[in-house]
Amino acid sequence: MQTLTALQVMQDAPVIPVIVLDQVQDAVPLARALVAGGIRMLEITLRTPQALACIEAIAREVPQAVPGAGTVRNRADVQAAQRAGARFLVSPGYTHALGQAAHATGLPLLPGVATGSEIMAALDDGYTALKFFPALASGGTALLKAWNGPFAEVRFCPTGGISPQNAPDFLALPNVACVGGSWLTPTEAITRQNWDGITRLATQAAQLRS
Ligand code: 3PG
Repeated sequence: MQTLTALQVMQDAPVIPVIVLDQVQDAVPLARALVAGGIRMLEITLRTPQALACIEAIAREVPQAVPGAGTVRNRADVQAAQRAGARFLVSPGYTHALGQAAHATGLPLLPGVATGSEIMAALDDGYTALKFFPALASGGTALLKAWNGPFAEVRFCPTGGISPQNAPDFLALPNVACVGGSWLTPTEAITRQNWDGITRLATQAAQLRS
């Protein structure tokens, strides 16, 4: 299976969905619904007991999808995500230990950053494609514009408070490769198994940059 770079993960589509799944049975139809809308990179957050089983199910049964693990916070999370079949990792913050653990797996990591010091720590460890989290609460597009001076080589995936309404403002910035958001996979749509509705949201998200 092809090993991806973090930049490839970010550049596949304008949006990486941030997914919370409570039931394993929803994982495969949800992944198929997103893929049908043109969204293949899927961040399954490790926030529910079923998250790893959901990654496993998608890796096994939806070959067009690229499941990744989100909310990866430490070495144990990294290793569990890799065992489940995650193809990329996303973290809400950054530590050197996390960076080393991810390097050891060969999986791409999108480390979460919100300050210049965190960006510098990630750069020191070789990470140049970063998640900006929580984007809106931390300064939004104004902070990204400011970072493009001292950190011009960094590409960001702003996440946290992004919506279809404000996503175009972020995507227009030269240092933004994609955005992340939970709006493609509303809890209510998953509960009602409204897969067509999720495909529609994915289709709109896939066209955000055009
Ligand atoms: C998260 O970690 O929950 C993501 O940042 C999603 O944020 P959102 O719900 O504001 O899109």
